[in-house]
Amino acid sequence: MAKLANFPYVLKAVNGNYDFSSQSPDKEYLAELEAQLSSFVEQQKITNPLIQRRNGIIKHLRKILTNKFSNAKLTSFGSFESGLSLSNGDIDLCLEFDGEPPKKVLKKIARMLNEDGMKNVKLITNSKVPIVKFLDAQSLIPVDISVNNNLSVYNTELLRCYCEIDARVKPFILAVKYWARSRGICDPTSGSFSSYAWTLVAINALQNFDSPVLPNLSKHDKSRLIQINGISYDVSIKTKDEANFVSENKSSVAELITEFFSNIVENWPWNKSVISVREGALIPRKTKGWLPKKPYASELIQNKQMARLGKHSLPVEDPFDKLHDLSIVLDADGVFETRDELLRINFLLRESMDWSAICEPKYPDTAIGEPQLDLFEDLRSKPESEVRQNLQELYDKLAEIDRKVTIRESERNDAIRMSKALRRNAELAREQSALATELRPRRSKINEAQSKRDLSNNNYIPVHFIEDELSKVYHNLTQQSQTGFELSFDKEKSLFSWFFELQSMHEHAKRTRQYHREFLRLVNQQEKSVEQIKDIRQETIDVNSLGKFTDFDELAKRLLIELNPLKKERRMLRREIGRLEAWLRKNNNSNSRNKKYRKTRSSAKKSHRNVEQLRGKVASGDSFSLQDLDVLLKNGGINSVNQSESLQKQSTRRTKKNKTSLQPRRGERGKSSKNN
Ligand code: UTP
Repeated sequence: MAKLANFPYVLKAVNGNYDFSSQSPDKEYLAELEAQLSSFVEQQKITNPLIQRRNGIIKHLRKILTNKFSNAKLTSFGSFESGLSLSNGDIDLCLEFDGEPPKKVLKKIARMLNEDGMKNVKLITNSKVPIVKFLDAQSLIPVDISVNNNLSVYNTELLRCYCEIDARVKPFILAVKYWARSRGICDPTSGSFSSYAWTLVAINALQNFDSPVLPNLSKHDKSRLIQINGISYDVSIKTKDEANFVSENKSSVAELITEFFSNIVENWPWNKSVISVREGALIPRKTKGWLPKKPYASELIQNKQMARLGKHSLPVEDPFDKLHDLSIVLDADGVFETRDELLRINFLLRESMDWSAICEPKYPDTAIGEPQLDLFEDLRSKPESEVRQNLQELYDKLAEIDRKVTIRESERNDAIRMSKALRRNAELAREQSALATELRPRRSKINEAQSKRDLSNNNYIPVHFIEDELSKVYHNLTQQSQTGFELSFDKEKSLFSWFFELQSMHEHAKRTRQYHREFLRLVNQQEKSVEQIKDIRQETIDVNSLGKFTDFDELAKRLLIELNPLKKERRMLRREIGRLEAWLRKNNNSNSRNKKYRKTRSSAKKSHRNVEQLRGKVASGDSFSLQDLDVLLKNGGINSVNQSESLQKQSTRRTKKNKTSLQPRRGERGKSSKNN
């Protein structure tokens, strides 16, 4: 029992102190809860600045990732695309890339993101879909990147389609996700369900109310099959029109929420069933073949061993991947905490608690904050002079870091050059010794070929001579048959004998020629080797005293390790400088825009006054210049003078009239006879 102290509601239930049959919430509370839920959903609205910021992050990541991995494609999926994102929800991205295994690619991505200044970069490779998690440096929006996780794009589409069926689906799911997240049971990295798993649990509940709010949108007709790593998945989905579903359930979101939690607590579906959105139902564990595997959560919680929880503890089937049970991420604590929180919310709903109290963050320290969308928030209250001073300090720091980077880079380049030179030296030495070891055996072969050739040369005449002679003898012997001329027997005998002798000599002479050629070939090779050795000796630099090339490799590596954080700091400084400069520019622009506006208005006024003066001048018959004429033509022409004159007259009249009406006037009675 002591082990259950962390799970007070489970403890109550185990002790028989949890009232499973308490009264359902009353109408008044449900109406209040409905209002609270609708204002909660309003708060979770994804505003335009947030969309812009998220799109900006995706654009930036797309640029750096597709630069690094050519032909790669970055796709956004998850709650941002399905419309089920909370205001502090994450961005889920999938990099489609064929070149290397996903884990290797993610490792590279994690390094790149670190260098890019992203925060809390974590590589998670022990999950079914390995990911890199991080926070965008400026907005602190969480981002997950996976590789070739194509199925997610389709299940995101499925979730979006479910949201389109009924207006209550989105607020219902958002409420479930928000509660799970606030209460610390929505984090697969620490042994609880993912947000996606809670979404499926929520959708399945909406499909399974006595009067369903959602139909089953999985088609199972193989009309859309996709292949991933050689496995075929049926991702066919019914459209809203195809589903042609109108729910007869008229409950409010608050009513659906209370019913959902009481159903789950009272019936604990996982006792016998698997939650299956794909079937739109709870399917028996036995049918699915997903009986809980040992060790069970209850065993592990007692022993607190580090052993991994057996499979299928709280099974939730993925809608497209029939083999994927989303409860694979759970640990024993996760299972108990989930049960405890479900008992708690059901209890609090029965107690008519406010939504904010129900969702009171359990682990405030680890709660995901709201995104920071105002990039200049900290600068708004600072005087411009202070921002300028900060900027100057950053410039100085940047110059200092630039200097450090330049020094290390040049040292590193030198080390690389030295290592290459020494490596080449070692290569040359190897080549030289290979050549030198060939010289001696070749020399004895040369001697052998030479002596064989010379021996043959002493006994036999050259081949070309023998061949000429052979041809002559052959000609003499065959002439008889062509010309009818008869050779004497003796002559013929001696010719034949000479012919055979020549033939035998030809054989020997040919061999001599071969020996000679072999001799020449070997001598040639020998000369070449000697030449090469000479060249190598010239090329070899006498730097062996400086050390081994591995020493310089080591130095280059050390310098690179020093360079990386410096470069990262430099990137940060540049980013901050950019931000301060943008802020100053923004301020100055708005100032100068105002100045410009004032200037335009005053110069317009001035020019208006000038044109009026000019018109007056012309009307009065005063002299005027060609320049004055040009101004007049551009402002209504000469006609405008008459108009202006009449306008002026009118205005004078009006003025007079006005003046008359405004000035003290002596009445008729006041007219003195003297004035007449
Ligand atoms: P999340 O669990 O991050 O959920 O999975 P979410 O829908 O984005 O919700 P918030 O914003 O975090 O609250 C993101 C996506 O990853 C895929 C699904 O497409 C899901 O929408 N996913 C997640 C899977 O395909 N399988 C999983 O086991 C988990």
